[in-house]
Amino acid sequence: MKNNNDGTAVALTRPPLAPSRETDIPDYLQRVYWWAYLHPNAVRLFEREWLVNLILWGNFARLRDAALAEFGDHIDQQMLQIACVYGDFTQRIATRLQGEGTLDIVDVAPIQLDNLRRKLPPHPAVRLHLQDASALHFPDAHFDSTLLFFLLHEQPAAVRRATLAEALRVTRPGGKIVIVDYHRPRRSHPLHFPMQLILRTLEPFAIDLWQHEVQDYLPPELASTLRIDKQTYFGGLYQKLVISR
Ligand SMILES: C[S@@+](CC[C@H](N)C(=O)[O-])C[C@H]1O[C@@H](n2cnc3c(N)ncnc32)[C@H](O)[C@@H]1O
Repeated sequence: MKNNNDGTAVALTRPPLAPSRETDIPDYLQRVYWWAYLHPNAVRLFEREWLVNLILWGNFARLRDAALAEFGDHIDQQMLQIACVYGDFTQRIATRLQGEGTLDIVDVAPIQLDNLRRKLPPHPAVRLHLQDASALHFPDAHFDSTLLFFLLHEQPAAVRRATLAEALRVTRPGGKIVIVDYHRPRRSHPLHFPMQLILRTLEPFAIDLWQHEVQDYLPPELASTLRIDKQTYFGGLYQKLVISR
């Protein structure tokens, strides 16, 4: 039992696994991340920017702004955000939309889309979709740019590969994919061992991003045709990749 900051108690008891055929919510999300994204009390608990910022060791705004900087102050392109993010991330993108600019957001969890709907002021150019990142419903080359903020580390390797292949498929040649996620920090980083322990315990697939480059999960036939710019943050614990098609 945890206490909300409004004083109400929040119970985080693991709900029974729903059959995935009924919900289409991937197994890994139900088994590993129910407490972060699926339980109604999880959404109530984590939808606090200070808490997300704490989890990112004070780097939320820096990483959010590093991602947003890739799209500029005025977004007049067709943009896709793959997976919801706690905090004001999507609202900030929406306020930058101009002219022909549109923003489509997909998430596989209805509760996350409902939460985002509550946070977002109605906007004619913003659309929310219930879709799995590893099997998107959009046509090829539909978007100018695609954004993935801390999604890949949550996915098992096969789903991560499929998600990246889909992001590439729906982003037009000449467009770009922006990824922000975990990265292996240098060994002398004071958080190297604590973070290893935290991730191994709570986010078991995240260690993949310490042991491999994101490039290792791209379709091999495309990898050599892409330009990839990588920047690391906070002693290497986080990375931003900009993949140009
Ligand atoms: C983007 S990630 C983590 C973001 C970050 N930790 C934050 O501050 O919110 C979390 C979201 O990814 C979604 N998600 C996970 N796997 C997905 C998938 N295969 N397809 C679509 N959405 C997915 C979850 O439902 C959740 O809303």
